[in-house]
Amino acid sequence: MKANAKTAATLRSLAAGRGVRIGCAVGRAFWSDERYRELLARECNVIVAENVMKWGLIHPERERYDWGPADELVAFARAHRMRMRGHTFVWHRQAPPWLEKGTFGRDEFFGILREHVTALAVRYQGVVAEWDVVNEALDDNGGFLRNSFWSRACGQDFIDAAFSYAHEADPDALLFYNDYGIEYECVKQERLFELLRGMIARGVPIHGVGLQCHFETGKVPVEGMRRVIGRIAKLGLKAAITELDIRIARPTGAQELAQQAKEYAALTRVFLEFSGSCDCQLTWGITDRYSWVPVFFEGFDDALLFDREYRPKPAADAVATEFAHRA
Ligand code: G3I
Repeated sequence: MKANAKTAATLRSLAAGRGVRIGCAVGRAFWSDERYRELLARECNVIVAENVMKWGLIHPERERYDWGPADELVAFARAHRMRMRGHTFVWHRQAPPWLEKGTFGRDEFFGILREHVTALAVRYQGVVAEWDVVNEALDDNGGFLRNSFWSRACGQDFIDAAFSYAHEADPDALLFYNDYGIEYECVKQERLFELLRGMIARGVPIHGVGLQCHFETGKVPVEGMRRVIGRIAKLGLKAAITELDIRIARPTGAQELAQQAKEYAALTRVFLEFSGSCDCQLTWGITDRYSWVPVFFEGFDDALLFDREYRPKPAADAVATEFAHRA
């Protein structure tokens, strides 16, 4: 970052100085935009694939894996000495039709899951240090599990199975359950802890919880985050901030950017308070030039740390200031 003298250091170097990781999800621009790759290399010491490790992209046909794009990201992470997070083995979205629409017996379904998880975990062993093993399996409306092709095929058992297969394939990898809407007190958060307590009691190899953190300015649950990371730590698990963004209702002006900066700073303070058990903070994208937000939330934008011209926004300066001054 070169915004001003105070923040002349990069986010990456400031985070490293605090013994933590900061980074982002890497999207399609990786393959077309050299400036984007430079920004990643300069500012991130952890990355995750926004899409290319999801089942539908990396394993599009039953007998065919498409390793190319994921391999390139992994090579980039290695070359730039970044940690790599893996996202994600099991999700109800971006699954290939052969899997989602297939009519498999229960044993066959588990066999397919084992083969997929093992193939990815073994291929990226030693580079992908932590995996979002299961993504968004909890129900949004007060029930326990989301109604998906996963839960319809095998109830809750796919969750334990995916973690066990991942652990068998790469015993050194840290294994996370990842979700949204669990960052503040609510029914879904209670269901999360029900799930976690059950997994721990059954001896399932789970090591952490990914808190996605897709927020909106003015509605950022800072205290909720403090409480939930504390609760996760009490279970002996790690937490990670996996997909942070703070979207702004258009039009975006200086006041909105200042508010967003305060909120990024407040979350970074919580993150640093818990750095012993929560040592990765990733945003879901790095520059507002490329973000899922305007595509999925009509009327919202500008959710990330760098603007469309790759310049640090007030939010990036605020995060840097927290890293620099809270030693
Ligand atoms: O690859 C096709 C491309 O060939 C086609 O031209 C284009 C036309 O729209 O679509 C491309 O696929 C899109 C893909 O992103 C790659 O850009 C899909 O339509 C689009 O649905 C997909 O969206 C992704 C979304 O997950 C899927 O639900 C977003 O990029 C990605 O940011 C988002 O990530 C999720 C996390 O995995 C889990 N948590 C929530 C987060 C945000 O939704």
